Amino acid sequence: MAVLPIITAPDPRLKLQAKAVDKVDAQVRRLMDDMLETMYVAPGIGLAAPQVGVAKRIIVIDVADKGELPRPYRMANPEIVWKSDETATYEEGCLSVPEYYADVERAAKVRVRYLDEQNEIRELEAEGLLAVCIQHEIDHLAGTLFVDHISALKRGIILRKLGKAKKNAEPVAALRS
Ligand code: NI
Repeated sequence: MAVLPIITAPDPRLKLQAKAVDKVDAQVRRLMDDMLETMYVAPGIGLAAPQVGVAKRIIVIDVADKGELPRPYRMANPEIVWKSDETATYEEGCLSVPEYYADVERAAKVRVRYLDEQNEIRELEAEGLLAVCIQHEIDHLAGTLFVDHISALKRGIILRKLGKAKKNAEPVAALRS
């Protein structure tokens, strides 16, 4: 397994439409494992393939609390087949929008259909943090970040600050290499 570099906003690769996976084969499984390792190291509770520069419909999630056994989900071609009318608001963050958090309102419960790491079709009904995370990660596959759910004003401020921080960081990165 390998820890992959995570792309941070603003970056055009985070705005792409990810392509469906034909089949979950050894190569896709390896990417899923690398994504999980990357997510655990970050640390985060979810990661989508576009965040590591792969425009494929693959996400990984683990919302287990510290001290609990890991509960990793590896999902290819995840699709929300049902969502509740009831909504819930959580303060969200994202490994691609480091150090910024905002309240986002989403469906409180969802049912997701996906291919697991064995290429088997599965369905999962989720609520709470898992439901939030599934919707957040599936958004990434359509080039949508959590900041796209907040006001354009707030989004503009966050993305401008991130863009500036990135520019300032570049010479340091060059020195290190
Ligand atoms: Ni994210």
